[in-house]
Amino acid sequence: MEIIAIANQKGGVGKTTTAVNLTASLAAKRKRVLLIDLDPQGNATTGTGLDKNDLALTMADVLLDGVSLQEAIVTSPAGFDVIGANRELAGMDITLMGQTNSHELLKTAMSDLVTDQVTGQKQPYDYIIMDCAPSLNLLTINALVATDGVIIPMQCEYYALEGLADLSQTIDRLKELNAKLYIRGVVRTLFDARNTLANDVSAELQTHFGDIMYDTHIPRNVRLAEAPAHGMPVLTYDRWSKGSRAYQKLAAEVIEQSRK
Ligand SMILES: Nc1ncnc2c1ncn2[C@@H]1O[C@H](COP(=O)(O)OP(=O)(O)OP(=O)(O)O)[C@@H](O)[C@H]1O
Ligand SMILES: [Mg+2]
Repeated sequence: MEIIAIANQKGGVGKTTTAVNLTASLAAKRKRVLLIDLDPQGNATTGTGLDKNDLALTMADVLLDGVSLQEAIVTSPAGFDVIGANRELAGMDITLMGQTNSHELLKTAMSDLVTDQVTGQKQPYDYIIMDCAPSLNLLTINALVATDGVIIPMQCEYYALEGLADLSQTIDRLKELNAKLYIRGVVRTLFDARNTLANDVSAELQTHFGDIMYDTHIPRNVRLAEAPAHGMPVLTYDRWSKGSRAYQKLAAEVIEQSRK
């Protein structure tokens, strides 16, 4: 079982789009996957066709009330397992302020999935994918403490290099809390191949961070933006769209990494 957090402090870079569509593409390749929404915006939850305000249990119950991850799992209309989130998760920083080990709550809860409490069967998933909020709040820190690797979605804009350097520093600092933490890969998102600046930045990223860059570039594709409105991953919404094919390629790269 591999745990992957999708994180970037910057907003609107395609974290949720990547979390939902990478999960769907891994599931389509017959991997057993669980998507955990760790953003009070609940966009990943909605993106899988669930009604975020109509869930019996969410990540708020897990992190604030000690409900087990197992109990909070639902099968989404998209066909794979999800633990949802909604606004109830927003007060977490304040609620848990001063509580010792507040950064390890998710890691502790994860141990429940390492061995299935009900069947005694080990590791019911091949991958657990976590969608993080655009900040380094207590929720994101919980994700980075519980995870093995991080996938960073990144737009090829002017400040991308600086942003990535900052992010890798942040991740280095968090190694104090999680020695296993590493950048599994950076995925270029919202990529417009006709844009000269985007191409230049992409090439620069390749030069400086080549060893952690995924080959797959996720194109800017309207089908990816439309799919969540229908509560579907793009794979279901428009299987052969450029966006869908790109996420399938990314999933293949992620699986290939696991083999190494
Ligand atoms: N490759 C893409 N092509 C077209 N639209 C995209 C693409 N990726 C994301 N979008 C759209 O851009 C917006 C931001 O994407 P998304 O919600 O995935 O980013 P995010 O990093 O999760 O945002 P936040 O920081 O608010 O959580 C959404 O409206 C989404 O549908
Ligand atoms: Mg998001």
